[in-house]
Amino acid sequence: MSSSYEKEYQRLAAKITIVGAGNVGATTAHWAAAKELGDVVLIDIVEGLPQGKALDLAESSPIEGFDCSVIGTNDYADTANSDVVVVTAGVPRRPGMSRDDLLSTNAKIVGTVVSNLVKYSPNAYMIVVSNPLDAMVYVAKQVSGWPKHRVFGMAGVLDSARFRYFVAQELGVSVEDVHGFVMGGHGDTMVPVPRYATVTGIPITQLLSEAQIARLVQRTRDGGAEIVNLLKQGSAFYAPGASIVQMVEAIVKNKKRILPAAAYLEGEYGIRGVYVGVPVLLGAGGIEKIIEVELTPDEQAALHQSAAAVEELIQALPPL
Ligand code: NAI
Ligand code: 2OP
Repeated sequence: MSSSYEKEYQRLAAKITIVGAGNVGATTAHWAAAKELGDVVLIDIVEGLPQGKALDLAESSPIEGFDCSVIGTNDYADTANSDVVVVTAGVPRRPGMSRDDLLSTNAKIVGTVVSNLVKYSPNAYMIVVSNPLDAMVYVAKQVSGWPKHRVFGMAGVLDSARFRYFVAQELGVSVEDVHGFVMGGHGDTMVPVPRYATVTGIPITQLLSEAQIARLVQRTRDGGAEIVNLLKQGSAFYAPGASIVQMVEAIVKNKKRILPAAAYLEGEYGIRGVYVGVPVLLGAGGIEKIIEVELTPDEQAALHQSAAAVEELIQALPPL
């Protein structure tokens, strides 16, 4: 595909590039296209893979009735002038691996990908997904040099969705009525905050026992590993894809959603110089605001412990 892409293919107002046409990238493309959030460009290092998946997805459009363009490519020129770029390139976890085991391999991949993206889409918003998430967003920020409101990570929406699903199952109520968010890094130290979780405004602390909540919190922390262990090869992709698309939608439709995202903190929550999951206001300006909620001393300590774990990963990064 040549750089004549713009003229020939662009149909919708927004252009969304997804790097990595694997499980997460392809699923994200699927839902972004089905929701007509913008024209979708799927790019991967493997020749034929993004082209094949994009064509297959595009061929479903007459049935599903979406009119956006979906193309696959190995050439960053085709990603030019994207409004949102999503980085899913990297290797996923295998059973027995932690997200952190992926550190140096994925840091190199993310570094290369980001330096290509910024050349062609200097004004985009970047959502990083590759693991270990909080360290990879840091890599993306360093390599791009972009301001913090334009570079952030997806993990909190996924971790929160898992928690919300488990609560809905436990109570036998609709998932639509369960709200809540998970803070901290996307790892074993993530910090679900059940005090802020509600069912239509009713705190879950009034509906579930402490033991029940503790069990659901632990299942949330282990949520990624639970899927890895079931799949044996690769990691979760449906819920991650849906989570990314919710963030993309908040940006391209300027929805001003309050969602948890890996944001670069500069003193908020007493944390500085690392990416950690916190609630943010997400709209056409990317992260328009970091929301500082009141935390108990225990919650604050857990958040600081999580930030310290992210800091350790950053220290262990290969030279960028
Ligand atoms: P996958 O293996 O299915 O896909 C990864 C794709 O990246 C492959 O198609 C591969 O060819 C491509 N790739 C590798 N190097 C590349 C490069 N230099 N340029 C372009 N493409 C390149 O993996 P999957 O399941 O899609 O996961 C992707 C990443 O997302 C993993 O790091 C995984 O751990 C992470 N992840 C993060 C989540 C989060 O909540 N932040 C949730 C789920 C996955
Ligand atoms: C997950 O939580 C692997 O980070 C990915 O499913």
